[in-house]
Amino acid sequence: MLEPLAPIGRDPDTDGYVRDAWSPAEMELREWFAGEAARRGLDLREDRNGNLWAWQGEPGPGRPGVVTGSHLDSVRQGGAYDGPLGVASAFAALDLLRARGVTPARPLGVVCFTDEEGARFGVPCVGSRLLTGALDPARALALKDDDGDTLADVLTKAGRDPGRLGRDDETLSAVGTFVELHVEQGRGLVHEGRPVGVASAIWPHGRWRFDFRGQANHAGTTRLADRDDPMLPFARMVLAAREAAARLGVVATVGKVRVSPGNANAVPGQVSAWLDARGAGERDVRALVRELAEGAHAAVAEESWTPVVSFDEALRDRLARVAGGDGTPAPVLPTGAGHDAGILATAGVPSAMLFVRNPTGVSHSPDEHAEQADCEAGVVALADVLEDLCR
Ligand code: GLV
Ligand code: MN
Ligand code: MN
Repeated sequence: MLEPLAPIGRDPDTDGYVRDAWSPAEMELREWFAGEAARRGLDLREDRNGNLWAWQGEPGPGRPGVVTGSHLDSVRQGGAYDGPLGVASAFAALDLLRARGVTPARPLGVVCFTDEEGARFGVPCVGSRLLTGALDPARALALKDDDGDTLADVLTKAGRDPGRLGRDDETLSAVGTFVELHVEQGRGLVHEGRPVGVASAIWPHGRWRFDFRGQANHAGTTRLADRDDPMLPFARMVLAAREAAARLGVVATVGKVRVSPGNANAVPGQVSAWLDARGAGERDVRALVRELAEGAHAAVAEESWTPVVSFDEALRDRLARVAGGDGTPAPVLPTGAGHDAGILATAGVPSAMLFVRNPTGVSHSPDEHAEQADCEAGVVALADVLEDLCR
């Protein structure tokens, strides 16, 4: 099922995927989703925030469904599995249930959330955050991409009505339970020697923008003593982040930097850098960001924050039992990666996640991988879980 997706948004030079939300590549993937839904006779809907839902059976008031799925956008130069594996597995699990002759007693939905990665506009999980009211629609609409286009501009160009964005209780009330299958973004399952695991929690995490301002000036004629070079405090901040992260037992990353105007022969006028910080303890993550912000001589803005997510324990244990097949329960693992399932869990929707073993442990990179047999084990586990939840 992933084969027809392989060329979409692929950079032939790197084998990486570039699938920004609402880009031609992501629009093509949305078309694929619609086609898969139609082939199975599912009822396709796009909600007010651009999330796609394909239903088997009609959810309604007092009759919420069981939903599974993930996202189809990617980070820049990402792998083939982060997102698409969860969506393809959702359709495949539905096929398997049909092949088994199972008639679910509850409506069953497949979802594709919009802009999970936040690669284009900076804020992750835009679709699920808008759906649950965790992101203010006015703020979302004003977010800008690298070309200076706002989300409002981009939605309008895609034929969507930006005025419709916002919390969507009708759509949300249809989701009784949400299960997201995802490629593992580490090597926990490799160490466990198991193809499928279950998520226990998502670390608290956030993104902060640091703007270092200085004075653009000539690289040859400006004496060192006369320079106001924002690259220097930026460099100190990167090193300080690494040192503080090690001391506090968290992780901190600067993976995106914008230097302007960007001349090789000029001192820059401004450096903007994005800090991603995560850890098991919210206090330590907050302490790191506070320390860096105080020492940085920069304007600091919090672009997103996701508190710790502890998945519903009863649901988690039920999944681990069922996904373990006839053997011992599937291993239960925490993760430092963010997911739409975390946003839904925070909004009070009973949610859970299945992970599929990733032999490289690498993710957000073309080296991300999952073996065919493990993907199939993931589909079987997901089908078992859905069958159990739909009883
Ligand atoms: C999404 O994958 C994230 O963890 O940032
Ligand atoms: Mn991701
Ligand atoms: Mn993902």
